[in-house]
Amino acid sequence: MRWRICAAAWLLCGTSMSPVLADEGAADTSHLRVLAASCAACHGTNGNSVGGTPVLAGLMPAYFVAQMQAFRSGKRDSTVMHHHAQGLTEAEIALLADYFSRQPRVTMHAPVPESN
Ligand code: HEC
Repeated sequence: MRWRICAAAWLLCGTSMSPVLADEGAADTSHLRVLAASCAACHGTNGNSVGGTPVLAGLMPAYFVAQMQAFRSGKRDSTVMHHHAQGLTEAEIALLADYFSRQPRVTMHAPVPESN
């Protein structure tokens, strides 16, 4: 039974244990949706980029968080991400890391035609 509830509302189950998110109304998934939508302009729907930006779908949460912290501190050079990372709280980064790690990675590229 608990499994079914988790399947239906994975985000609630996935985040309700986290002390980081306890104060922030983690049950409110609409906030996460708004945040993730702001990334979609460059990183594609659900983090599956079709342009030159990195694909976020399926990234390990620890890697994701480390990159966001490096953008914030300036440890990792970036064209635009330092700006986006600085606008997020630690809790929001944790939510986004969890969200994107759960998105299936989709290959968007068309097959390359044979050249002969
Ligand atoms: C204006 C376009 C743009 C937006 C909006 C944007 N990004 Fe990025 N993102 C980039 C680019 C370009 C890079 C490559 C590093 C750089 O040049 O800044 C990047 C890199 C990253 C990386 C590193 C990926 C890796 O494989 O190392 C992460 C993580 C990331 N973005 C997360 C986010 C999140 C989360 C959001 C939304 C809050 C977001 N980005 C919004 C353009 C964008």
